[in-house]
This record gives sequence, structure tokens and C-alpha cells, in this order.
Amino acid sequence: MTSESRQNKLLLEGLSKRYGSFTALEPTSLAVEDGEFLTLLGPSGSGKTTLLQMVSGLAEPTSGRLWVDGEDWTHRPVNQRGMGLVFQHYALFPHMTVAENVAFPLQMRKLSGADLRARVDETLKKVQLDSFAHRYPKELSGGQQQRVALARCFVFRPRLILMDEPLGALDKSLREHMQLEIRRLHKEFGTTVIYVTHDQEEALVMSDRICVMNHARVEQLGTPRQIYSDPETLFAATFIGHSNVLRGKRISADESQGVIRTAMGEFHGGYTARDRSAEDVALIVRPEHMRIGPAPSAEFEGLSGRVHDLVYVGAETRLLLMLSDGSEIMLRHDPGIGAQPAIGDMLPVHWARSVARIVA
Ligand SMILES: Nc1ncnc2c1ncn2[C@@H]1O[C@H](COP(=O)(O)OP(=O)(O)OP(=O)(O)O)[C@@H](O)[C@H]1O
Ligand SMILES: [Mg+2]
Repeated sequence: MTSESRQNKLLLEGLSKRYGSFTALEPTSLAVEDGEFLTLLGPSGSGKTTLLQMVSGLAEPTSGRLWVDGEDWTHRPVNQRGMGLVFQHYALFPHMTVAENVAFPLQMRKLSGADLRARVDETLKKVQLDSFAHRYPKELSGGQQQRVALARCFVFRPRLILMDEPLGALDKSLREHMQLEIRRLHKEFGTTVIYVTHDQEEALVMSDRICVMNHARVEQLGTPRQIYSDPETLFAATFIGHSNVLRGKRISADESQGVIRTAMGEFHGGYTARDRSAEDVALIVRPEHMRIGPAPSAEFEGLSGRVHDLVYVGAETRLLLMLSDGSEIMLRHDPGIGAQPAIGDMLPVHWARSVARIVA
């Protein structure tokens, strides 16, 4: 690790957490840039909260170091970190009104009078709670309480904000509104944000980069586009968006291209697997890249399958095809175009070699 890389906003060097013999987070190294919005995305129990709590100072790492702005913060007490924290169950002060809750971090920082009131009003407007300023937390819905927690975090404009599933309690439309609002606040204040969710769509919408976690380790770190189009593992390919998966054996893999043998034949694809020497690999083709019909040229590849279900979802019909080895693939079909497939039909489908990926 060079001294230059410690100039990142945040740097984790082999940070790990064990509880007795159980590993909640394997040694993890990653750098977060100043002003970046990084999302930790992964299934329940994958170590997201554990990682966040070590950054916040609420949990002590078992090994490794944490650097903030080039300073070693590994053992710095939580109350000297000045980070904004919004957790899923982060309690508000019950004896204070909404406005008093939001004013609290400013009072701690010796702001008072008209300046303080203006800042509180402005922040409550941003989370659409200006008309609730005088209520107490127990007089609010869960979603409203969560928005107070967001306001109480953003109001003091911390340089680093940690959020753990902050929108979990909100309904879909409010959740989408707050996603955009958090993004806007993040851009406006240039804050660095580490955000935890297990909602892949939320991660794609909000993040500069996504850190995909599984089984206490980082599976892949990259921009939403990199992770969606060039997954490095089967887990990343199937956890984010829908993937059609054909399992098989690796025939060849050079720098970027590979060939896989499956029960349906041999296929080419971009070899994005992190494990360069894996024998058991899988071909990944996204549903939107599959078309009905035989492969039109050598740049395309395809196979045939029997239609065993058609699912109408308004803008499109989802076709489920059963392949000869018993596996299933899904593709999208515009119901307005061409002949309508029926259950039991044998259909050829194809895709461009350039969009297929081979992962391990
Ligand atoms: N205090 C603790 N003692 C023992 N094990 C713990 C403790 N805290 C967390 N764990 C375990 O560590 C693992 C990772 O937990 P963590 O809370 O980081 O998961 P998560 O990714 O945040 O999951 P979720 O999406 O459910 O919140 C889990 O298996 C959990 O049971
Ligand atoms: Mg958690």
C-alpha cells in the first residue's frame, strides 16, 4: 500500500471481523474516493452491516486498518469520527420534536439562533416534513421517522455518511422519491456516502460504484455498468438483473475471449471470470440479448428450446424455454411483433457472441 493510495477519502486495508470462530467479514481491502457514492450490495448475512459498523467505529475490527483522509482511524472512538449515520433502526430522541431532533447535531456543533432555524427548516423541506416540525416521533409513521433520521444526518453536512438500509420502511413511491433525494443531497454537498442495500435496483440507480458482497467477502467492485455487463462471478451475474445461465466446462480462455462446452453445444463469449483457471464455468446471456429465430451469421450463436410458459407483463411477454438438459432460459418478446409463440412450440433463439459472458 503506497502513501499515495492512503490519500483516498477512505481506505480499508485487510479489515476483518470474527465473532469467536465465525467469520463475519473476511480480510477486505478497498478504497473509496472523495465524493463517491459506494453501495454495499449483497444477500442477508453477507457482511454489509459488519463492514459499515467497523467504518463507523461501532465495531472493533479483528484485523486490518482503516484510513480516513490519510489518517489511521482504526481505533478512533466513534464520537470523534463526525460521520453521519443513518441505520434502519436508528432511534430518534422520543422526548424531542421533529425540529428538535434535526437541530440536535447542529447544537452539538455550537450553531444557534436564526442560522440554526434556517438550516433545520431547509432540511425538513427537503425530506417533505416541514409541516411535521412540532410533532413527536411517536406521532409519526415509520417512513416519516426514517425521513427525520435522514434529515438529522444531512443537516450537519458531514463529509462522510454511512447508511444502512435507510429506505427499508418506505413504500415504493416514497422510496423512489427518497432515492433521488439522497442522490441529489449527495451531489449538492459533495459528501462521500457508503450505502447498504440488498435491493439491486436501488443499487443500480444510486451508486457510482457497487461492491457486491457474498459469504463475508467482496465478490466484485465496479460501476453499475461494469457489474451488469461484465460480471466476474456467477453470483454477481445472477444477483444483479436476470441472467440465463448455461453451465459447462471451459474449453479455452485467453485474455478476454473464451469457449465453453455445454449440453447444448459449444459457445463463445467474453471471458470475464475472475478465476482464470476455473474448469467449471457458465455462459451468461441476458434475456434482452436473446432473440427468436436461427442465428443469422457467424457473429451469432443459438440453440433451441420448447416453450413451457408465457408470462404476460404488459409491455412484453416473457417466454420461458425448457432446454434439452432440463435447464430453463427466459427471453422477452414484444407481443406486437411477429407470430405469437404458443406453449409446446420448439423455438430457435440466438444472441450475439459479443454480449455473451463466461464466468465461474
Ligand atoms: N454480534 C455478533 N455475534 C455473532 N455473529 C454476528 C454478530 N453480528 C453479526 N453476526 C453475523 O455476521 C454475519 C454478517 O452479518 P451482517 O449483519 O454484517 O450481515 P448483513 O449483510 O448486514 O445482512 P442483512 O442484509 O440481513 O442486514 C451474519 O451471519 C451474522 O449472523
Ligand atoms: Mg445488515
